[in-house]
Amino acid sequence: MCGIVGYIGDRKAQNLLISGLKRLEYRGYDSAGIATLSSTGQLTCLREKGKVAQLAALQVTNEVDDSIGIGHTRWATHGTPSIVNAHPHTVGRITLVHNGIIENYQDLKQILESKGYSFKSDTDTEVLTALIDSLYKDDVSLLDAVLGSLQLVVGAYGIAVLASNKPNHIVAARSGSPLIIGLGDEETFIASDASALVGHTNQAIYLKEGEIAVCRAGTVELYDIAANPITPAVETIESDMQAIQKDGYDHFLLKEIHEQPEALRSTLAGRLRSGSLYAHLGGINMSDTELREIRNIIVVGCGTANYAGQLAAYLIEQFTEDVSIQVEIASEFRYRSFHIPENSVALIVSQSGETADTLACLTELKRRGVRCLGIVNAVGSTITREVDGGVYVHVGPEISVASTKAFTSQVAAMILFGLMIAQAKGTSTQELSTFINDLNDLPTEIEKLITDLEPDIKTLAKSYAGYDHALYFGRNTLFPIALEGALKLKEISYIQAEAYAAGELKHGPIALVDDSFFEVALIADNWLYEKSKSNLIEVNARGGHVIAITDSKKHIQAETIVRVSTSLTQLTPLLFNVVLQLFAYYVSLERGNDVDQPRNLAKSVTVE
Ligand code: M6R
Repeated sequence: MCGIVGYIGDRKAQNLLISGLKRLEYRGYDSAGIATLSSTGQLTCLREKGKVAQLAALQVTNEVDDSIGIGHTRWATHGTPSIVNAHPHTVGRITLVHNGIIENYQDLKQILESKGYSFKSDTDTEVLTALIDSLYKDDVSLLDAVLGSLQLVVGAYGIAVLASNKPNHIVAARSGSPLIIGLGDEETFIASDASALVGHTNQAIYLKEGEIAVCRAGTVELYDIAANPITPAVETIESDMQAIQKDGYDHFLLKEIHEQPEALRSTLAGRLRSGSLYAHLGGINMSDTELREIRNIIVVGCGTANYAGQLAAYLIEQFTEDVSIQVEIASEFRYRSFHIPENSVALIVSQSGETADTLACLTELKRRGVRCLGIVNAVGSTITREVDGGVYVHVGPEISVASTKAFTSQVAAMILFGLMIAQAKGTSTQELSTFINDLNDLPTEIEKLITDLEPDIKTLAKSYAGYDHALYFGRNTLFPIALEGALKLKEISYIQAEAYAAGELKHGPIALVDDSFFEVALIADNWLYEKSKSNLIEVNARGGHVIAITDSKKHIQAETIVRVSTSLTQLTPLLFNVVLQLFAYYVSLERGNDVDQPRNLAKSVTVE
């Protein structure tokens, strides 16, 4: 979603802002802009629709040596993607970039119009800019004008603000949209995401909700919303340059699919053990007595994180007999009048740790006294700061908009949590050996699968890339995989992909089967094999173009068959998922799409 960068120091701000925006490209955006100030207060503002590369081209003919500035990648919310709606916005002496949504902007706009302000764009951001300008007077500091404005605003924001007559500081503020201040040697950086700071500094202040920072070259003053000074806590950030490079792969997505074995090893390191204490998660902050008391787990997440929860629920409920598991879509759950069973614990699942709907559920669950644990990847993200404990999945930066390695490790982390509950309730290692062994073997099995099947999947993708519709189906643990596989295909290939529990086909979706569709049948070699095979036969009988993916060696009839060869028993769905990730990748490539930054999507969905 939208990204913010800012710089003040003695280097050329334009270059640093553009390279910072390039690092934020993976978040998804549709326009970009930068504004810098000269020491005499001359503003140079460049904005472009489309990619940061187009903005960089604009810089060539508008180059300035200014050493203070702010920049933005915009993912349109209010108003279409266009130059006039792109940030930074300037009104009077104020220039501003903004992530989030100002909900009462129409009311504020009317008030400002009555005071003589007029507006060029359709954005809530221009209204906020005008509001700050209206309060910014010769006897009112920029900090006070920003503070005064934010008290009138309803909504979410991360902002960075320049005043043309004060080319020596930037004011940054956060409420509901993350901001990080990076401290360098005589220079200060502002970013909505730590990846924009990598290579410049690893010393950072994560702004907390309601905090405001006055950033000068190399120094920062911090205030709360009531203007009380706060002592900043400087932290060391851990991302490294290597982790955000493509490493010879054509796309981040392919790199991230291939990284899954290593990512899983990091998720499991020190947490999956041998002997009677088979699982250990240091960060959940729960005693064995508290774990024993759990009777209900509420898993909350969006998109892929939700599907990871659905798969984990199928798996965990097999070995935690007196625990029920409910998996909720965060954007729905936050507005339901839900009842919380006794002895519940919530798992808040998010790769980015910033998803607005997931965060809202966390706030509500905490308000209602539920212990909330994060299953999160992004270190230091908002969810990790708000939960009562949790598990970092440690898969490293996931840059591609389509989530892959995070899914696999989220499932593994949730199984580890289930194992901890089982362990506390006295279940022996022997009873859980199939899950423990599968977790141990999973990284190597994924490696083997990629080596064995990737060339065939690439060829297969060519044959099916011409279709515009697809139907995925599977039973039991392969139902969440059907959902996730279809999501992967639709988001990067733009093929309409429906996913159903295979037993549901006869209740409606089988009517879709015709020559404009292909079908993906997921068939596990387990006690449901014959039933799944029947579903496949029913689709075949109606002229389906079926790709059957199976770990069975038995004879099966389908247009195309992909055989997964594995020694796993419980976690084979995660192997099927890797097949579907690779399939989606190669179909997208074949169709000539922007694999890592698909249209209309953002990596981190920080608005509702
Ligand atoms: O950062 P999160 O895990 O909270 O993100 C949740 C979804 O937005 C995300 O999984 C989305 O569905 C991806 N584009 C899926 O590939």
